[in-house]
Amino acid sequence: MLDEELQTSYIRKVSLPKDMGNLFVGETEDFEKMMMMYSCAIKEVKTKLQVLNDELSMSRKRNPIEFIKTRIKQPDSIATKLKKKGLPLTVETVRGNLNDVAGVRVICAFIDDIYQVADMLTAQDDVKLIKTKDYIKNPKMNGYRSLHLIVEVPVFFSDHKEQIRVEVQIRTIAMDFWASLEHQVKYKKNVKDAENIVYELRACADVINRTDFHMQSIRDRIVEEAN
Ligand code: GTP
Ligand code: MG
Repeated sequence: MLDEELQTSYIRKVSLPKDMGNLFVGETEDFEKMMMMYSCAIKEVKTKLQVLNDELSMSRKRNPIEFIKTRIKQPDSIATKLKKKGLPLTVETVRGNLNDVAGVRVICAFIDDIYQVADMLTAQDDVKLIKTKDYIKNPKMNGYRSLHLIVEVPVFFSDHKEQIRVEVQIRTIAMDFWASLEHQVKYKKNVKDAENIVYELRACADVINRTDFHMQSIRDRIVEEAN
């Protein structure tokens, strides 16, 4: 059992691919160390969210979080983003300029849960809120909705502590469903009928939004009546 636990908690080393040529020159070790730190920060944030969910499932008999997905940005995507910003490919520029190397996506059933989770996470005294983008109150033109937080959390290592940034995206199941399909359109080239698809996705986003609010109001009524 312990072995299994240790294995699942072991950080997979993210190395620079061989074909990265002269990227992050002379920084292979620093790069791997940086990626390890981002992985640890993901674990810290994920644990905080799981603890909140466990506690609320006892005290309020319901889980605000349906599930949590995590991802670490791959070296080639890091390089592409830095190039786009016209920045040199160094560990220092990654740390100073990219907020989304460590990513945590939180999927909730209801819109109210999104804001509750965000408030509870950012209220913790070791979580520093750097930036909020509320694409639920201000959806993107294409219909994208989610609450984005950039937070900084301390990660404690053997001899020092580091403040690490993590991008937290919080959305409903329906918003997540929509975003996955929309993402495919965005990143697939030569999608036939792309113009109509964009239009239809926008219409779906509106339906989803109405449904999310409707589901919320039904749940509120159920909870009210139960009390
Ligand atoms: P990036 O440079 O793409 O990270 O954008 P940003 O720094 O302006 O941040 P923003 O908060 O707008 O978006 C961050 C992330 O949210 C993206 O990397 C996506 O994962 C997600 N996202 C933002 N907009 C969209 C969208 O229109 N569709 C989908 N599917 N995902 C989106
Ligand atoms: Mg991003």
